[in-house]
Amino acid sequence: MTALGKVAVLGAGNIGGSLAQRLAELDIAREVVLVDIVEGLPQGKALDIRESAPILGFSTRVTGATSLDAVAGADVVVETAGLARKPGMSRSDLLEKNASIVKGHAEAVRTSAPDAVVVVVTNPVDVMTYYFRQVSGLAPARVFGESGTLDTARFRTFVAEALHVAPRDVTGFVLGTHGDTMVPILSLTSVSGVPLSKLLTAERIAALVERTKQGGGEIVSLLKTGSAFYAPTAAQAELVTAIATDAHRLVPVAAHLHGEFGEKDVCIGVPVVLGRQGVERVVEVDLTPAERAAFSASVEAVRSDLAILAKAPA
Ligand code: 2OP
Repeated sequence: MTALGKVAVLGAGNIGGSLAQRLAELDIAREVVLVDIVEGLPQGKALDIRESAPILGFSTRVTGATSLDAVAGADVVVETAGLARKPGMSRSDLLEKNASIVKGHAEAVRTSAPDAVVVVVTNPVDVMTYYFRQVSGLAPARVFGESGTLDTARFRTFVAEALHVAPRDVTGFVLGTHGDTMVPILSLTSVSGVPLSKLLTAERIAALVERTKQGGGEIVSLLKTGSAFYAPTAAQAELVTAIATDAHRLVPVAAHLHGEFGEKDVCIGVPVVLGRQGVERVVEVDLTPAERAAFSASVEAVRSDLAILAKAPA
């Protein structure tokens, strides 16, 4: 199955390299091009992945490039470039430096891949998604951020481990920002339909929520250099597959709001239906009063970063 022509993965760090490998193995694109400014890095990782094709059986051609010209004509662009957190840093600490990297990439997409669907991964992801859309001029539905899929996967993992059940049987949504104010929606979390509140005490659930909020930081602390990439790239590959196969998946991503959940002119994690053209619609699930308050606080945290970015030198 080669549903897509070209997928451009910007940034050939741990995330970019791991994602290119996952996409190649899924065989959903004719070509995956890894792009990075470090000479040799994208070419070397691409060649290494390509040499696994005879064993793994995929047909996707993986290439590497240092020029943004390689983005031309991409059907999907995944923006992974930028600095990762060091222990003790918040994602917002990366704001200005990563914005300067994202800017050039969004300009390249505007001129040479204007029909692309863009998945933004660079942190702080809710803010970078908004910024990428603004600079690229693409339709808001075509630019969204990978955040909730990852945070939800972490929450699902912790719940599954606490209950000794299969991780895939745990479903739920973690909404809001991909940061300290993320909002696990407990009213929508269940194990094969059994509400979480029937299976775990409120105290245990609260501990799992707290661990989820610190999920990225927990891995940064363990690794000491760099941040997570196995679960993030699994989430990104799931989203690119939903685009490639026009799957209409109902997933949480950082999407542009136009009045949904009472918010507009902001990008934040919400449930959406995702297909070949990007975000088909935002799904406005019911939130409890506490969840709604937490979601509003999360939106304010993103707005505060957007205001800092708006004042930063271009
Ligand atoms: C994380 O949460 C990298 O933000 C990403 O691990």
